[in-house]
Amino acid sequence: MKRYRDIAGDAGSDIAGQVAEQQARLRSRLAGVRSVVAVVSGKGGVGKSALTANLACCLALGGWRVGVLDADLNGPTMAKMLGVRGARLDVVGGGVEPPRTSLGVRVMSMDLLLPSDATPLTWDAPTQEDAHTWRGAMEVNALREFLADTNWGDLDLMLVDLPPGTDRLATVASVLPALAGSVIVTIPSEVSHLVVRKSITVATQTRAPVLGLVENMAGLFPGPDAGALAAAAGIPFLGRIPFDPLLAAAADRGAPFVALEPERDAARALARIAAAVRESLERYWQETPGSSW
Ligand SMILES: Nc1ncnc2c1ncn2[C@@H]1O[C@H](COP(=O)(O)OP(=O)(O)OP(=O)(O)O)[C@@H](O)[C@H]1O
Ligand SMILES: [Mg+2]
Repeated sequence: MKRYRDIAGDAGSDIAGQVAEQQARLRSRLAGVRSVVAVVSGKGGVGKSALTANLACCLALGGWRVGVLDADLNGPTMAKMLGVRGARLDVVGGGVEPPRTSLGVRVMSMDLLLPSDATPLTWDAPTQEDAHTWRGAMEVNALREFLADTNWGDLDLMLVDLPPGTDRLATVASVLPALAGSVIVTIPSEVSHLVVRKSITVATQTRAPVLGLVENMAGLFPGPDAGALAAAAGIPFLGRIPFDPLLAAAADRGAPFVALEPERDAARALARIAAAVRESLERYWQETPGSSW
């Protein structure tokens, strides 16, 4: 595919046709995906990725077919947290087979494509001034390619782990018009609430319903109540996940915390949140039949 800088003066290379073709490929690759849910927070480091990985494991343990798309192109962590780093990628039928975790979760991440640990993804822009807009345009394009070039197969749910930033959900929603919902994450601090309030505004402005707010690392700081934040915003409160060093250690090992330590309070909290997400989606499917791809 041509790069954006090539578009000016494009001498008949049919960019519009290429985009339409990619869009059609994306639709056909996602034909078996019943729903897509984004895990978001304007605030960095609050546990979006840990929540995504553990929700995926909970739902897979419950018999769902789950995929995870790591939409954090610059700081991808999903392959590591889900234990598929370094997996070989096979190309079948023109698409990449997403590696599967021990629980069968299918994962696609930039981390699986970059040649070495130290290689960051760099966006090429003619001037520094252009870099910001380029980043957005390239990000959308990279995500579209990720989705369109992966053999996702039949999934009940694709979870999308977003990078931090209040505008990121709008980007993903533009690539995935069939987004079935978002889960917003905060930690109990004023600073986090300040930013997450903006994320809630963005999430409520997308067509996809907000499935709810999660308080992660509960008990770590004597911060404000996330239940009150959710109530004030008129969105469901999905629950609190306590801070648990075993959860962090499992994420670092790429081990499924909820399967290995199901009796821990954090694992129980995650299982309850996964059940709430599952119920919301089942309701969504009932209320909007044919809403999936
Ligand atoms: N409830 C928890 N208890 C203990 N450790 C946790 C918990 N939630 C997340 N962590 C750990 O905290 C660190 C940050 O979490 P994570 O990477 O999931 O945050 P993030 O919001 O995805 O960050 P980023 O904004 O950079 O994408 C990780 O090492 C993770 O394992
Ligand atoms: Mg993350």
